Amino acid sequence: MNTKDIIDTAKALVADNKGLLAMDESYPTSNKRFAKLGIPETAELRRDYREMIVTTSGLNESISGAILFDETVQQHLKDGSSFINVLTDNGIIPGIKVDGGTVAMAGHPGEKITEGLDNLRDRLNEYAKMGLRFAKWRAVITIGKGIPTQACIEANAHALARYAALCQEAGIVPIVEPEVLMDGDHTMERCFEVTEQVLHTVFNQLYTQGVLLEGMILKPNMIVPGLACSKQESVDEVADATIKCLLRTVPAAVPGIAFLSGGQSSELASARLNAMNVRFKNKLPWELSFSFGRAIQQPALEIWNGKEINVKEAQKTLYHQAWCNRAARQGEYNIEKERK
Ligand code: 13P
Repeated sequence: MNTKDIIDTAKALVADNKGLLAMDESYPTSNKRFAKLGIPETAELRRDYREMIVTTSGLNESISGAILFDETVQQHLKDGSSFINVLTDNGIIPGIKVDGGTVAMAGHPGEKITEGLDNLRDRLNEYAKMGLRFAKWRAVITIGKGIPTQACIEANAHALARYAALCQEAGIVPIVEPEVLMDGDHTMERCFEVTEQVLHTVFNQLYTQGVLLEGMILKPNMIVPGLACSKQESVDEVADATIKCLLRTVPAAVPGIAFLSGGQSSELASARLNAMNVRFKNKLPWELSFSFGRAIQQPALEIWNGKEINVKEAQKTLYHQAWCNRAARQGEYNIEKERK
């Protein structure tokens, strides 16, 4: 393992108030989002859509790294160049989703385990040769009646730690993503309690597996009430609860925390990240950043709508959403001004 390179890449991913763009939707996820807008679910249109994203001029002003899906790294832009090269040439670090998605966990109704450890070492070595410098693995924790169970939390944390160790062995920075889902009517307090337990377990496993904390990025959920909960806390309350939970659980050696958006609107995700930076920036041991998928892409996807003629408009919106989150990292995002 080249420790220095890994640490430098991890630092670069959260430097200069930039953040990550998650554009690694799997086939089912991408199909679902296309279908909702009536966009045909074809490999060609997925390619076109992602070409629209990576050729957005100025994207590198706000985006340090982009997470790709395996299909995309095998595809080429219309001019024949590879997605990896286009990103690299624009100063955006290319990364790759390496988990194999989630399946039902045996004996644990309503809970999921992430697959993909088989052959992971070979795949990572191959990806490293292609120029991919960081990776992502997403574990999913569901809140419900009697869940999550300790069994589900431990199994997912163990897989995350084994993945992270394999990444670092291959010279790739692991993005460790334990996502506590927003679905349900649970309270913000319940999200706090579950996330705290999950993060403790994850860092325990990372320690046990010998993962270098300086050479990884944590990608957690924010502490939010369930989408169907009748009480929805204010932006500042979410910011305070999230920081309290992270201060209890994330070691200071970790260079950065890059939140997922998890189904929050673009505006709320930016406003909450902004509030955290307004209230706590410079008082925290790690950088507070973003690794948003929907919160950056969704408005642009709706404008693009599968049509070449909409590319320029969609790119303007994508650039703007990324820019809003760079502002949020600096505590300078203003939700009212953005609406005008
Ligand atoms: P969202 O921001 O849409 O949750 O996507 C982030 C991600 O990468 C999920 O794995």
